[in-house]
Amino acid sequence: MGSKPVYKTWIRKHKLITFLAISVCLIAAAFCPINLYIRILSGLFALPFCYISFIVSYTYYQFATFGNNFQSIIHDLILQKLKWDGEGKLLDIGTGSGSLTIKGAKAFPKGQFVGIDYWGSNWEYSQKLCARNAEIEGVSDRIVFIKASASKLPFLDNAFQSVISCLTFHEVKDEKNKILLLKEAIRVLDSDGVFVFMDLFMDNKTYGNYSDFLTEVKKLGVSEFKAVKLSDLIKLPRVLQSKKALGNAVLLIGRKGSAV
Ligand SMILES: C[S@@+](CC[C@H](N)C(=O)[O-])C[C@H]1O[C@@H](n2cnc3c(N)ncnc32)[C@H](O)[C@@H]1O
Repeated sequence: MGSKPVYKTWIRKHKLITFLAISVCLIAAAFCPINLYIRILSGLFALPFCYISFIVSYTYYQFATFGNNFQSIIHDLILQKLKWDGEGKLLDIGTGSGSLTIKGAKAFPKGQFVGIDYWGSNWEYSQKLCARNAEIEGVSDRIVFIKASASKLPFLDNAFQSVISCLTFHEVKDEKNKILLLKEAIRVLDSDGVFVFMDLFMDNKTYGNYSDFLTEVKKLGVSEFKAVKLSDLIKLPRVLQSKKALGNAVLLIGRKGSAV
């Protein structure tokens, strides 16, 4: 086992490898001394596969630590927007490989941290990877990672002074009503606790009409509430501005409690 933390990207590597492999096979078939029609068909199919492989690889590069590190930049931004004094407990919903939770623990040395995730088999993240990363980063004494679903958080009401989440709610399959997921996140927040949730909130296939969605969020009992497009906060490369990447990403920032 190496001594460096491993933070996986938001692009599933096996999908990228599958696209690359299909592209290579189709190109190879187009140049093989086989039936001409099969060669022409292979060449035609190779074009979209090569294009998708390029876009996915370039997006991967933008997110990865060896590339332009946008995942880490976005995690820093979430913590920067959190109006927390660092006292008490923070919950990260959908912690993945623990990156945001661990960054939080390093930024707020007095706090206690909980990262929850479903860690389904379709992702490359795991509870073990999170624990290993926290150990390497020297914050494992202040973090616990728990397997749970965002739809039913195994915590009492008002248990956390701060709740954050990054690109998770749209992935939750066991609750289609996304407002109920936000309600659940706010339930475990202390009476004047703070939150920052980043997700594809402008994607109307998942969240419905954006302004209706924001109206519903405000009804959950929040104050100092702001919804800010990610692209208004940081300059995203063109490939990440696409609606298939982060073009619909919004940060919901606020505090629990009724607006005055
Ligand atoms: C795009 S990844 C984001 C991971 C992490 N928040 C980050 O920023 O690196 C989406 C995460 O949502 C998690 N997830 C999916 N369904 C979930 C559920 N029902 N409850 C909790 N987490 C879930 C996945 O396991 C995955 O870790």
